[in-house]
Amino acid sequence: MRTLDLAIISESNVFRQRAELVGSLFTFECMTYPSDEAFFMESNLFKNVSCLLFDFCKPQDIKDITGTLHVARQVSPASYILVVCNKMSTEEMDMAISAGASRIITQQEYYDSSKPEFVLSQVIKSVFVPVKTMDLVEGTTPTFPLYHFMPLNRRFLKVFNTNSMLTKDFLTKFSNAGDLYVQRESLDLWQEYTSGYVAKDSAEALQKSRQKFRQLNESFLSLALLVSDRSTPATFAKGKELYSHCEKFSADLLSSLLDLEDPWYIISSSAVGDYGSIERAPAVAAYAGFMSATLKVGSPTEVMIGALLADIGYLELSPSVAAKLRTNRTHEMNAEERMEYQKHPIFSLNQCLARRLPLSNNIKEIILQSHERVDQKGFPRRPRADKLLEEAMLVRLCWELDQQCQGRMGERKPDIREIRRQFSRAAMNEVGNYNPRLIVKANSVLLPAVF
Ligand SMILES: [Fe+2]
Repeated sequence: MRTLDLAIISESNVFRQRAELVGSLFTFECMTYPSDEAFFMESNLFKNVSCLLFDFCKPQDIKDITGTLHVARQVSPASYILVVCNKMSTEEMDMAISAGASRIITQQEYYDSSKPEFVLSQVIKSVFVPVKTMDLVEGTTPTFPLYHFMPLNRRFLKVFNTNSMLTKDFLTKFSNAGDLYVQRESLDLWQEYTSGYVAKDSAEALQKSRQKFRQLNESFLSLALLVSDRSTPATFAKGKELYSHCEKFSADLLSSLLDLEDPWYIISSSAVGDYGSIERAPAVAAYAGFMSATLKVGSPTEVMIGALLADIGYLELSPSVAAKLRTNRTHEMNAEERMEYQKHPIFSLNQCLARRLPLSNNIKEIILQSHERVDQKGFPRRPRADKLLEEAMLVRLCWELDQQCQGRMGERKPDIREIRRQFSRAAMNEVGNYNPRLIVKANSVLLPAVF
């Protein structure tokens, strides 16, 4: 029996097409069903369905909706259940959540924003988390399976069974083949394994940094899911809790990066964010925090939080704008799309404020100024150069640097040292983009003595 990525349950062609588009974008295995009964009849054909997508856009009694959700939860207990509805009161949403829905989005969010892309990519593809082969130790018997990503058919293949012994041949083979993956549900076991087996003293700091990176990444993604979720209005406390996790893990990650000889390598090879749109934020935050601490520009934790949240407004962008962003085709945006894209720092701040995240004034400005330039040709507000925060410019610099470092899943990553050198040269030669004082400072870390 196989696992299905996405079951689309709707009688509407338009609804199904929207979901199928997301499915093809992320190469999900999808099945469509015209009714809930049709799905329930066939649900036993699958070992698991990662996500059930229900169309409740047509007005119907909340009792019918909760009835369907109860059955769905029973027949598919491990699935993420995403509900799309036209209008629901707070009480009705609470009832739907209690009946088994994992999240509810409005019809408008479904068609006009890129939330379906983010939520579905998170709950389906992020079932697998990349880990480093070099953190595995020969002769040990991990208590979790390991997977390999096959770029050709874009599927995950199990290559190691629970409680088998790791052999030298296996480790050699996969250290040449790129990252391995564990299932998200095995992450705790992986953390336990890596803290129990420290390969060599010199590897300990690297391993610790990777662990901290993963923790920050997990908290950030949970925060992003929550911040963009309007179906659970009474969760301000949860938002605060996740935010304080992000603060703590940012500080932890930074202190372990500062212990490393080459933090650039760890961040650029961190393998976060190959899916979707905002997932590179932890890497940008890590670069920016490291540079802020080393160059003494602002408070490193504030810079990291600003970098994490600066693009959270991407989730409000329309599917066409988001698709062009994801595939690096911003130059193909028409005037209207460009205007929408250029508002995203404002969307980001508004989303955080709507969730009452306790942001300092500095963090708010870092978010708002994350695309501003000294020649006032940035966006969205174009303040005078003397009003620009160096911290915000640092975040943009790291975001641009990271854009150039990104390798796609299954492909070899570009060499970060070469990218740093090229980036520094381009920034020095370009007038009006960054503050020249900041670039001179930045070069002291972008261009280390080895060049
Ligand atoms: Fe941005």
